Amino acid sequence: MVASVLVTFGAVLAATAQAATQASGPTIKINQKIKYQKYDGTGISEAFQRSLVMHELDQPSQKLALDYLFTTKGAGMTILRNGLGSSPNDGWDLMKSIAPEAPASNSSRLNYIPLPRDDQYQVWLSYQAKARGVHTIVADSWSADGYMKTTGTDNNGGYLCGVTNGSCETGDWRQAYADKIVKYLKDYRDRGINIDYVNPYNEPDLNTSYASMESNGQQSADFLKVLYPTLKRSGLKTQIACCDATGWNAQQEMLTGIQAAGEEDTLGLVTGHGYSSKPLTPLNTDLKVWQTEWSTFDPINYNWYVAGNSSEGLTWANNIQKSFTLANVTGFLYWWGAANTTDNQSLLFVNNTSEVRVTKRLWAHAHFGKQFIRKGASRIEANVAGSSALNVSAFANTDGSTAVQVINNGDKAETVSLQGLRLGRKQKVVTYLTNQDNDLKRGYASSKKGNTAEAKVPARSLLSFMF
Ligand SMILES: *[C@@H]1O[C@H](CO)[C@@H](O)[C@H](O)[C@H]1NC(C)=O
Ligand SMILES: *[C@@H]1O[C@H](CO)[C@@H](O)[C@H](O)[C@H]1NC(C)=O
Ligand SMILES: *[C@@H]1O[C@H](CO)[C@@H](O)[C@H](O)[C@H]1NC(C)=O
Ligand SMILES: *[C@@H]1O[C@H](CO)[C@@H](O)[C@H](O)[C@H]1NC(C)=O
Ligand SMILES: *[C@@H]1O[C@H](CO)[C@@H](O)[C@H](O)[C@H]1NC(C)=O
Ligand SMILES: *[C@@H]1O[C@H](CO)[C@@H](O)[C@H](O)[C@H]1NC(C)=O
Ligand SMILES: *[C@@H]1O[C@H](CO)[C@@H](O)[C@H](O)[C@H]1NC(C)=O
Ligand SMILES: *[C@@H]1O[C@H](CO)[C@@H](O)[C@H](O)[C@H]1NC(C)=O
Ligand SMILES: *[C@@H]1O[C@H](CO)[C@@H](O)[C@H](O)[C@H]1NC(C)=O
Ligand SMILES: *[C@@H]1O[C@H](CO)[C@@H](O)[C@H](O)[C@H]1NC(C)=O
Repeated sequence: MVASVLVTFGAVLAATAQAATQASGPTIKINQKIKYQKYDGTGISEAFQRSLVMHELDQPSQKLALDYLFTTKGAGMTILRNGLGSSPNDGWDLMKSIAPEAPASNSSRLNYIPLPRDDQYQVWLSYQAKARGVHTIVADSWSADGYMKTTGTDNNGGYLCGVTNGSCETGDWRQAYADKIVKYLKDYRDRGINIDYVNPYNEPDLNTSYASMESNGQQSADFLKVLYPTLKRSGLKTQIACCDATGWNAQQEMLTGIQAAGEEDTLGLVTGHGYSSKPLTPLNTDLKVWQTEWSTFDPINYNWYVAGNSSEGLTWANNIQKSFTLANVTGFLYWWGAANTTDNQSLLFVNNTSEVRVTKRLWAHAHFGKQFIRKGASRIEANVAGSSALNVSAFANTDGSTAVQVINNGDKAETVSLQGLRLGRKQKVVTYLTNQDNDLKRGYASSKKGNTAEAKVPARSLLSFMF
């Protein structure tokens, strides 16, 4: 008897606690009137011949991989970052230059060749991407050609001849490097592809065994003062992006140097990577900022959640969301989209003509892709109250639709109530769930009183509301 009473009493307590939790469950307040940065898109690169690897796939696998990256069957990415070659040679893992042989002097015309193997199939990839709705193409040059540098090779760092502390017996090669960049952009234009942004550097704070060119802010400014007028004279609409430093702090340092030298106005876009320091604060600029390359160095991980792992889906959902909410980025790019590497670095594993395997990291990107957010959308105010496990972001599209991404980092489900919406009487709010068992699984939020929607967000999940 005593035991039974205790059980009943316990059940009443549990029910009361549950009711209390529901009544004061976590709420998310959306305020569409408070607008932050505009959204450009998400993207990837297939530089260093990973575009060739995609091209080698058989037709159905090629289509599958491209659709996963660039359509709403997958990540819905809208930005492609191509590699602008500097190597004298063609071959696996290299990006061959369009001016591979040194001319007689720094003042001679460069020895141009046609885009080598269609720029390692990056021309093909650009067409495929554009056909699937990619609206922005970036060309990034990892280095100037060896003969334009203090070291005589495009690998192993070194400086561009002609910048501060970059003096060469052969003279000043800044104009030659600028001319080569413009020729590359024109080669693409002649193939019907407009390149929106060109970046003369990649990780200039690093000396690597592959193509790399070092630079600090002052040295970049020394080159930007030549590149900018050269680009203007060409009549191309391409804008300059800079500088893809290895991490957020390194990029802030580059930018400060460029600003101090009075050359920030030459830029259309500021770009940094997430490796050495994560994008967690805005950079000090009014220009648009993108996170343009980041991945892990772990073995490839297809999972959504593995405690302590840095290459699984949930970690990347958080990385992407924080870049938008904390670092004020308008674009977020992973490193490779598809590659035949088994260690790290790509969202799709492709192998030997017919195998395409999808990581959960790709589905994390999908929640921030064009199915939910379109170019020109504004990020809007969204705050969580009542749970320390939830994080949220929200974007208002120009067509009146709104997307809200809710990440539950906790180990129990949360029933969240979304408030501050302007919903029609019978308007349904669609939800999309990604976690270990689901990839963008479609469902509906229960909506009540026209301006509040409720949905259960399972533990360790990403749920998007779309209305
Ligand atoms: C870059 O690193 C390599 C390997 O450590 C080294 O040999 C080379 O001198 C370095 N280059 C520069 C310009 O410091
Ligand atoms: C150039 O080199 C000098 C001497 O090493 C150094 O003090 C100065 O900071 C360098 N300038 C730049 C822009 O790198
Ligand atoms: C070539 O280098 C010399 C010496 O630095 C410089 O005076 C000249 O302007 C350079 N030529 C071009 C086309 O930049
Ligand atoms: C955020 O970026 C936009 C450009 O996209 C800029 O106008 C704005 O000043 C930035 N805000 C902060 C807080 O840095
Ligand atoms: C990929 O990851 C491995 C470790 O698994 C690391 O040694 C290698 O440097 C990484 N590759 C690149 C290009 O970062
Ligand atoms: C991450 O997950 C992968 C694949 O499951 C595994 O090989 C790797 O060791 C994990 N790394 C860490 C740091 O847990
Ligand atoms: C990836 O594909 C390229 C091009 O076919 C090939 O050269 C390379 O060996 C492949 N790498 C792996 C790890 O399969
Ligand atoms: C790639 O494909 C080849 C041949 O089809 C196969 O032998 C190999 O095991 C595959 N590699 C991986 C990592 O799956
Ligand atoms: C695929 O594997 C076969 C057999 O191992 C090999 O002959 C062929 O070159 C591979 N193709 C690619 C594109 O890697
Ligand atoms: C996520 O939520 C936690 C708990 O409320 C908070 O401490 C953290 O700052 C949030 N992170 C972001 C990126 O908003």
